[in-house]
Amino acid sequence: MSQSVGSVEKDHSASVISLGPPIVVVPQTGDRSQRGRSSATTPIDTTLLPSATGLSSSTSELSSRGVDPSPTGAGPSLADLQARARARHVPAPDADVLVVCDGLVRIFQSDAVEVVALQGLDLQVRRGEMIAIVGASGSGKSTLLGILSGLDTPTAGSVTVDGQNLLTMTAAQRLAYRRSTVGFVFQQTGANLLGYLTAAENVEVPLRATGTPSKARRERARYLLDIVGLADQADRRPGELSGGQQQRVAIAVALANDPALVLADEPTGELDFATAQEIYDVFAEVNARLGVTVVIVTHDIAVAEKVDRTVAIRDGRTASEVLRTSQETADTGESARVTQEYAVLDRNGRLQLPSELVEALGLRHRVRLELAGDHIRIWPAEPTGTPDAKGAGA
Ligand SMILES: Nc1ncnc2c1ncn2[C@@H]1O[C@H](COP(=O)(O)OP(=O)(O)OP(=O)(O)O)[C@@H](O)[C@H]1O
Ligand SMILES: [Mg+2]
Repeated sequence: MSQSVGSVEKDHSASVISLGPPIVVVPQTGDRSQRGRSSATTPIDTTLLPSATGLSSSTSELSSRGVDPSPTGAGPSLADLQARARARHVPAPDADVLVVCDGLVRIFQSDAVEVVALQGLDLQVRRGEMIAIVGASGSGKSTLLGILSGLDTPTAGSVTVDGQNLLTMTAAQRLAYRRSTVGFVFQQTGANLLGYLTAAENVEVPLRATGTPSKARRERARYLLDIVGLADQADRRPGELSGGQQQRVAIAVALANDPALVLADEPTGELDFATAQEIYDVFAEVNARLGVTVVIVTHDIAVAEKVDRTVAIRDGRTASEVLRTSQETADTGESARVTQEYAVLDRNGRLQLPSELVEALGLRHRVRLELAGDHIRIWPAEPTGTPDAKGAGA
């Protein structure tokens, strides 16, 4: 009863497929900084829920292949699924979306060697979101941030930030974009600040570049240093500050011109665990108080506890996402943080299965798919036994 699943439709927003039941439930304290650490493990489950995919296969088409479109009788019918898919085709209001990367490709050419750093990466970030981007070394994280910061341009694809097309902007527009629309925090504390200036003077540097009057510069610098918790260190130079304090100043510098987007590439890479947590809390604070959208690249998986969405990049593409939402528990009615991992479906319907699931089932070359009411089942192509029509799984 195995069979290919029909076409997969998606709306303009990034599609994700749930990888199973929620993997972490963390008591919600109401304060980002107080969130607990995850403790549960991820169960292996090849059942895919079409959370945002809009499955579309005609009943007659499936029937002709010998598939009961709703084997259990309990799930929604194909007509229901098609109606849901149509409803999802209402485009998301652009005002809500700050960053749109569509099919981003970046090829670096050095001598005779071509390195494909980004291979058709799709990503959307909503205004006011705070997300983390994780991935193995060389997966393309810094390349993506370089493009979003306006320092680099993609080889192909499209990217807009705050309605500005980063491929077609003039040099003057690019300069204005880098000064006012984005702020950047680097890993190296020394790379973010000028050592001969005080913390306050460092924050004033980008304000000078945009012609902000001196009184407004001073006020803005004090205000931002207060927000990052360094009001009493404003007159110290970087050499008189700890690494964590320097990164706080760097965040204030990045916020100087009130950007819509702050990008941070491994901002805690040189800090110990506890200080790194404090820096994530500072990002959460500015995200909540100033409404600035924050994108943090990191190897630190603990960041998942501090953000609402973690996007994993693999081989230059978005591979999976972990979303955190608040849900009331059935028994006590208390609010809890629920973490759910999703696989990302690209615009052509391609799905990258997590390597741990692929390895757990020994999947190779091809798999069998079956539409089962409101989800899809996946089996290895050469199972040791034949699953029954109700999908015993593999
Ligand atoms: N300027 C460049 N010239 C040639 N190749 C480059 C250049 N910049 C990056 N690459 C290559 O592109 C790929 C992606 O690099 P990138 O720096 O984006 O990875 P990353 O995910 O940030 O890695 P890390 O976690 O180690 O910082 C790598 O193979 C890298 O060697
Ligand atoms: Mg990098």
